Amino acid sequence: MSVADARRRIGVQKGRTGMRTQVGIVGAGPAGLMLSHLLHRHGIDSVVLESRSRDHVEHRVRAGVLEQGSVDLLCRTGLGERLLREGLRHEGIELRFAGESHRVPMTELTGRAITVYGQQEVVKDLIAARLAAGGTILFDADVVRLDGLDSPSPVVRYRRDGREEELRCDFVAGCDGFHGVSRGAVPEGVLTSYERAYPFAWLGVLAAAAPAVDELVYAHHDRGFALYSMRSPEISRLYLQVAPDEDLAAWPDARIWAELRVRLETVPGWSLTEGPVLEKSITPMRSFVVEPMQWERLFLAGDAVHIVPPTGAKGMNLALADVALLGDAFAAWYGHGRTDLLAGYSATALRRVWRAQHFSWWMTSMLHRLAHDDPYEAKLQTATLRYAATSRAYATSLAENYVGLPEV
Ligand code: FAD
Ligand code: DHB
Repeated sequence: MSVADARRRIGVQKGRTGMRTQVGIVGAGPAGLMLSHLLHRHGIDSVVLESRSRDHVEHRVRAGVLEQGSVDLLCRTGLGERLLREGLRHEGIELRFAGESHRVPMTELTGRAITVYGQQEVVKDLIAARLAAGGTILFDADVVRLDGLDSPSPVVRYRRDGREEELRCDFVAGCDGFHGVSRGAVPEGVLTSYERAYPFAWLGVLAAAAPAVDELVYAHHDRGFALYSMRSPEISRLYLQVAPDEDLAAWPDARIWAELRVRLETVPGWSLTEGPVLEKSITPMRSFVVEPMQWERLFLAGDAVHIVPPTGAKGMNLALADVALLGDAFAAWYGHGRTDLLAGYSATALRRVWRAQHFSWWMTSMLHRLAHDDPYEAKLQTATLRYAATSRAYATSLAENYVGLPEV
């Protein structure tokens, strides 16, 4: 397709053989929805295909920490209203270990902050904005195959209401998470993957209990890691390190609270507030990257190409950072015929991805119980935590990664 053709707005067209759009987006998670929103702001049409229902994606409890850069992106693109009203701005985190509690004053050290705002709220805001702008999101549309990615007109094949349908487009954005189909559409031998598995998982709990803390608590304990987070003045979000093959059924609410008390009530005079458990789930931990993040007309973003263990709170932020680059790259291509940003997308995105990979691995290694029988490792962890608690230089390194580095 010529640049002149590309500049012409195609619009979402429905023909005999299916729809046509400019960018076909697989997945309505933070990456896919944000990309569609950014493209719309540049006058570029897209269609988002999502295998699950709208209700499902709007209520899937996951991440909660937005870096300053993610908040800025959401606000700059008109999505800040509810975020600024309901999001909880935090200027520090607490490290709890060896019966001590230490605050890392992130904003004092970096001038930046994080905002606690549930991923499903970001997803709700994005869906509402896309639909209000007349955007097309097809829920319950399961993408089964991507064809013609090395041609000027790729085809996304999907199943909806028992029928096979197709979406033709100029480019495909694979934003379908770790278990999606997009990554698998790249021919064998093109991608290189880098992986690390961890011998533990997280049990996550959402509880109707007023948070007993103002800031997040990352706790290192002989029995394993625990994290105290929140969603609102009435809702707490808590995590426990558990075995990778842990059975959720083995964790009735009373056992969860008892274990949280053991791992978190290590500071004199401090106690948890308990309340009804609204939701609980187990998440495996892994580090994973595939390179490059692009093949021909397929651009991969978010969890589809990289996973981090959640300890550094980076996954959703990386997904948003990827599509911020991709939005600008498509705008340069459609608006000015520039190919350099699309060609450089993977290399540019991977710089941030690897910084976050290192930070997430480091936080995970410092805070979890790594092996049952390695007292030497446990001593190293305490030494690292104490260094982070007492050295301004080390704490600044933690803080600037946690709030998100503006340039990587
Ligand atoms: P996803 O959110 O996984 O979206 C992909 C979408 O694609 C899904 O809706 C899926 O249904 C859809 N899909 C899949 N296959 C198909 C198909 N074949 N056809 C059509 N659609 C398909 N990150 C942070 O930044 N901060 C945190 O504090 C944090 N905490 C976390 C805590 C937990 C317990 C977990 C599980 C994750 C956490 N994360 C955190 C990570 C964060 O949730 C993910 O990195 C984020 O969801 C990635 O967004 P995404 O859009 O790339 O992928
Ligand atoms: C939350 C999740 C994380 O992975 C993290 O590091 C901090 C907070 C949360 O869900 O609130």
